[in-house]
Parts: sequence; structure tokens; C-alpha cells
Amino acid sequence: MTLLAIDNLETDFVSRTLDDEIRVAHALNKVSFEVNRGEIVGLVGETGAGKSLTAQSVLGLLRAPARVVGGEAVFDGRDLLTLPPAEMNELRGYEIGLVVQNPRTSLDPLCRIGDQLVRMQRAHRPVNGRVARKKAVDMLAAVGIPEPERRMRAWPHELSGGMAQRVLMAMALINEPRLLIADEPTTGLDVTVQAAILDLLRQIVLERSMGALIITHDLGVVAHYCERVAVMFAGSIVEEGTVDAVFETPSHPYTRALLSATPERLKLGSGRQLGGPPPDLYNLPIGCHYRDRCERVRDICTTPPPATDLGEGHRVQCHFAKDLEGQPL
Ligand SMILES: Nc1ncnc2c1ncn2[C@@H]1O[C@H](COP(=O)(O)OP(=O)(O)O)[C@@H](O)[C@H]1O
Ligand code: SF4
Ligand SMILES: [Mg+2]
Repeated sequence: MTLLAIDNLETDFVSRTLDDEIRVAHALNKVSFEVNRGEIVGLVGETGAGKSLTAQSVLGLLRAPARVVGGEAVFDGRDLLTLPPAEMNELRGYEIGLVVQNPRTSLDPLCRIGDQLVRMQRAHRPVNGRVARKKAVDMLAAVGIPEPERRMRAWPHELSGGMAQRVLMAMALINEPRLLIADEPTTGLDVTVQAAILDLLRQIVLERSMGALIITHDLGVVAHYCERVAVMFAGSIVEEGTVDAVFETPSHPYTRALLSATPERLKLGSGRQLGGPPPDLYNLPIGCHYRDRCERVRDICTTPPPATDLGEGHRVQCHFAKDLEGQPL
């Protein structure tokens, strides 16, 4: 069952030059993908691809000069992009949990952990204090915090990075959301802590039949923890499909470049560094936006590539997707 269906989402940055001319950067270009119940979808791409902007657009968290100019993001029959702010506030943190990268800035430094977990519940529904505290303790235990009763009284600054990230996950999950959006939830944590947190996230998503969107630039995370993946370049989804299909038969030149540039491959000498600067969003190349960096570029690439369907939801936005399918990296 589809939980979130993003369809042709477009987000622009509109600004004025010193000469008072209006400039428009097309930061998200017809982004479409879905998150179903009981699955984790990975959104990957290099820094600046538009991953965080996608989450912010969907959750009504954009700040000027960014604004959504087209598309839909349907959650539970409602288009989040046109939802009045009060209804969006009600959904966010209740039916849709959010985990962002930096736990330090996301936790209130002046409020004990337990009180924050209680406050989170009461922000959405009246809850008896004792019930709310009990649920908070249970949630801390569920995210693997030792001595949860004692930790309820801890201040955010007393927690290690890994513990703070777990608390953040507890905050995102305390109201039993149906969808979790996690933007780089483990970036900056050491590998063991990262694995523990992602294992837990996977377990919770499966147990509760939730859906989750994990935003990351780490392909290893996607390979281990996600069912499906969407690859983003310059604000467009260039390839999407099951993790097996996309990793085994990557068919967009950018996906292939990303997969060749993993630290493991580079270390083994079989990889290649990801080349070239990201395109200028104010002046995107006509036709395929990957054109200036693509080693396979041909004349036809000045026309926008159609989405090629390679079967079972494996879709690729390249004129030559079928030629590349199944070719070694
Ligand atoms: N005020 C702005 N004006 C124009 N472009 C911006 C502005 N703020 C951010 N951007 C651009 O939006 C793009 C998407 O950023 P973001 O979603 O944060 O990328 P990611 O999360 O994939 O690293 C980036 O290329 C960034 O340069
Ligand atoms: S459409 Fe052309 S430029 Fe774009 S990725 Fe495919 S081959 Fe490269
Ligand atoms: Mg980001």
C-alpha cells in the first residue's frame, strides 16, 4: 500500500539580482517516487542534489526564497503541498516522524530528555502524564538506550552523539507515525553506532508496518537497509527501482558513476572519482541535465530524455538506458 506518493514535485528558488532582475533556480524538477508501507526507500545523490530540499518541500519546511511551484505529495489521501499550515503541523511529528542530521540542534538544550518526549506526545493529543512518561521510558528502551528510567532525567549535553541520535529517533517514533523521513540520520557517527541505529530503524519499520524514506549519500547504507532506491541528480530522479535492480543493473550513467566512486572501489583501484561540478541550477543544460558530465553524451541528449521503463518499477531517465542495462561498470 502506498503511503506517500510524490508526483512531479517542482521547487524553485526565486531571487532578485542587484539590477532588480528576477532569477529562478529550478532546484527540484518533476520529482516523482513513492514510499509504501513496510519498506525503506533510499534517496541518494551527491551533495547539493536536492535530497533535503525534497523532504523539506514535502513537509512544509521550506524557507524563502525556496518555494514549491508544482506537483503533488499525497499522504493518506491528502496533498501535503496544499495543506493549510495548521494541518501540516498536526501531521508532522504525529503521523509523519522526522529525523534530521544534527541531534544537537534538534534537541532542546534546556529540557530534560524525558520531558521532551512527554512534550512531543502532548503537542498532538492530551495524554495523562503517567501514561506519557511510561511510553517515553518504553520508547527509550526500544531505541536501545540503557537504563531508560535514569536517562529520562538526562540533559541533551550529557549524551554521546550516538545516544543523542537514538533519542531523536525515539522523539520521531513516540507518536507511532506511519511514515518516517530521516535526513542523513547517521552521518558523522562512527560505523558501529551507525549500524546499530539503522538495524533498529529497520526492525521498527518492519514490526510496525511503517514506511520510511532515508536520505543519504552513502550507497552502503542503501544496499544494506533499503528495499528501493531513487537516485537524484540536479533536482531530478534519474533512476529508481528495487535496490537489487539498481545496484545489479545500474542503467543511468550517473548511477553508474556513483557506484564506481564508492570508497571501497576507489581503495581497490577499480573505481573512479565522481567527476565535475554540479550544474548551475539557474542555468540548467537544455535537454538532459547530466549532459555536461556524461561520457556517453550524443546529439540527441539536447532533448529531454524520457523515462525508460526497464520492468518491475525500474525506471531510468536516459536516452540510452536500454543499451547500458546489464553492462559492467
Ligand atoms: N537560497 C538558495 N538559492 C539558490 N539555490 C539554493 C539556495 N539554497 C540552497 N540552494 C541549492 O539547492 C540545492 C539543493 O540542496 P539540498 O537539498 O540541501 O541538497 P542535498 O541535501 O542533496 O545535499 C543545492 O544545489 C543548493 O546549492
Ligand atoms: S540522456 Fe544522454 S547525456 Fe543524459 S545521461 Fe543519457 S547519455 Fe548521458
Ligand atoms: Mg542534505
